[in-house]
Amino acid sequence: MAMYSRLPGSVALITLQNPPVNALSAAVRQGIVDTVQRALKDPKVTSVVICGQNGKFCGGADIREFAGPMLGPPLVPMIHAIEAVDKPVAAAIEGVALGGGLELALGCHYRIAHSKALLGLPEVTLGLLPGAGGSQRLPRLIGLTAALDLITTGRHISAAEALKLGILDQVTDNNVVDQAVEFVRRVAGQPLDSRRLSTLPCPCPPDVDSLLDKAMVKGMEKERDLLTTLFNSGQARALQYAFFSQRVVGKWSLPSGASWDNSAARTISKAAVIGLGTMGRGIVVALALTGISVVAVETQEKQLAEASQAVPAMLQREAGRRSLATPPGVISFSSNLQDVSEVELVIEAVFEDMSLKLQVFRHLTSVCRPGTLLCSNTSGLDIDQLAAVTQSPGLVVGMHFFAPAHVMKLLEVVYGPRSSPEAVATAMQLGKRMGKVSVAVGNCPGFVGNRMLKPYLEQANFLLEEGATPQQVDEALEEFGFPMGVFRMSDLSGLDVGWRIRKEAGLTGPGVESTRTRQGRRYSPLPDQVCEAGRLGQKTGRGWYQYDGPGGRVARSDPWVHIFLEAYRAEHGLVARSIAPEEILERCLYALINEGFNILQDAMAAGPEDIDAIYVFGYGWPRHHGGPMFHAGQVGLGRILERLQHHHHNHPDVPHLKPSTLLRRLVAVGSPPVQTWREFINKERVHS
Ligand code: 3HC
Ligand code: NAI
Repeated sequence: MAMYSRLPGSVALITLQNPPVNALSAAVRQGIVDTVQRALKDPKVTSVVICGQNGKFCGGADIREFAGPMLGPPLVPMIHAIEAVDKPVAAAIEGVALGGGLELALGCHYRIAHSKALLGLPEVTLGLLPGAGGSQRLPRLIGLTAALDLITTGRHISAAEALKLGILDQVTDNNVVDQAVEFVRRVAGQPLDSRRLSTLPCPCPPDVDSLLDKAMVKGMEKERDLLTTLFNSGQARALQYAFFSQRVVGKWSLPSGASWDNSAARTISKAAVIGLGTMGRGIVVALALTGISVVAVETQEKQLAEASQAVPAMLQREAGRRSLATPPGVISFSSNLQDVSEVELVIEAVFEDMSLKLQVFRHLTSVCRPGTLLCSNTSGLDIDQLAAVTQSPGLVVGMHFFAPAHVMKLLEVVYGPRSSPEAVATAMQLGKRMGKVSVAVGNCPGFVGNRMLKPYLEQANFLLEEGATPQQVDEALEEFGFPMGVFRMSDLSGLDVGWRIRKEAGLTGPGVESTRTRQGRRYSPLPDQVCEAGRLGQKTGRGWYQYDGPGGRVARSDPWVHIFLEAYRAEHGLVARSIAPEEILERCLYALINEGFNILQDAMAAGPEDIDAIYVFGYGWPRHHGGPMFHAGQVGLGRILERLQHHHHNHPDVPHLKPSTLLRRLVAVGSPPVQTWREFINKERVHS
């Protein structure tokens, strides 16, 4: 786990060995303690270099160990002991030095890095703090202001920035270990006191009062106490779970047995996007930024002209934000579908209208070369129906991006019953290349994310009928941690989107009776009536809130809405009651979670991690609550079940509140931890 070698001459080389990122597991820590001792004792050794195997110095503490009891030598004394060594020790940093990895390097007397290395203290993103001396050594090395920036943001910095800040002693484009060996040979025998960071005063700005100095003296103890508190907090567990769920979803598997490790992906270099509205434009930009050449097709002349102005500007802006000198992919605009004949993959993003999409897919299958992958960005229509009109249904999948598509991290890759493993693998890999978190989901109305959103939105509307205001509902959800409550969010997306879907489903529109029960279940006509009043959200300057004008961003309470709600309640004989924030959260979130259990039961998502990644990356679910399914586990499945039963009892005409069978089954077997649900579900499926 840490290999010791004596290089010709007097340098001992310690190589961390724990693939893939040389995380500081118990065995690695033990290895470091042993090899450092060996170097100390060997009289022929005058200096030491610590490096990592396979081009990665160290990705930090081993996050997988956090859930269990602490084994092996602790990190803090280990790093202290390195700092105290009386032979110069240098860290040779290649790849990454993150978290505990950087803390280890800060315990060394010198730090030499490769120019492509990334450094940082990302503990905050896991609900922790740099608890192995990082919060203490870094400010002493580079000053409070710069250290606080790195510690509180958790951002990764380049070797060049680290050199400028004073974290590194040298940066090289050559072999970093050779460079570090040469470096320590040169400094061997020089005094080390000024290199022991924990013993140095902190270079504070003159205006920082003496209290801070005193605090720094006690810093190591304080750091330990705070870390212990954080380790035991629910937020840290949730953030660490979110870190792993993001990676678990990459290891996708389908009910057919196809999976990430047995399905080959094609590498795409030429693609086309059909329809250059809100979504199409963002998708073109995201593809071009990945180095893919794009044929961008739009049939409406005005839209095409607008898009050919807007897309290059968006691309430049985004390339600048990502510090890319020039966007790598080339874009050509066209009004002719014939121009997509040479591409390897097409993403259709025309209006959400099945007959139009069918027409486009029929056309595509006749124009494209055989073997071209045909993808749809539909938000919830049946992928199988689209596949059915093509010559190769196996090559059809959904690629459901989220708005704005060049910014949002989530991509749902929707497989239909006929989608081939190759098509799924290609879409998943393409998403990854585009920097997305790609999640494979089954083909059902709304897929995973929007399917779960439906009961959530529905509850929010029912709460308005029963006496809540849009502000009260939004405040409860924002207090929970969503960046925007459901009504503010709906105003931003446009209220007409859902209205159109409800019209298509025959739930509203001319000839549909204005009752509160439709298609055999409770229905709230409130959002339809808001749309009928011409209030479509931010774009019309009015929706559930009022804005300064069309396109305005700042939501203000609107007396019209309050009068409208009162009139509505009076018309339907509803008596407004006062609704506590707890009820708002339970009704909205537990209904959504319940649908998550139904989705797992229907095998539309492979595991709870998939659902949680979708919600964290696509729907603003607060990362420090892990995701809806993780949150259910934190609250307690028994409690979720009991509250759903309670609310379903009060609202028997709302099927979404009826507890899912899977939830009941999990409670019946003692509410096992979320990490074991996938296995439980698979076993149940085999037995049923
Ligand atoms: N502990 C355990 N496993 C880790 C890990 C860590 N610190 N860092 C990465 N891994 C695992 C991943 O889970 C993944 O496992 P898998 O192959 O089974 O899915 C594998 O290593 C590869 O990781 P990525 O897919 O993320 O690989 P990339 O090359 O894209 O990224 C990375 C590498 C930049 C190092 C990224 O993995 C990362 O950001 N890791 C976390 C770094 C971090 O937050 N470190 C701080 C830990 S907390 C700490 O040190 C506390 C201390 O202060 C006391
Ligand atoms: P939009 O209305 O902004 O753009 C659709 C574009 O397609 C228009 O420019 C239209 O002229 C063009 N178009 C129509 N028929 C065409 C044809 N035959 N050939 C070429 N272009 C044609 O729609 P938006 O919002 O971009 O949505 C597109 C798709 O993406 C829909 O399926 C929608 O459900 C889905 N989606 C939308 C999201 C959103 O937030 N807007 C989020 C995720 C998916």
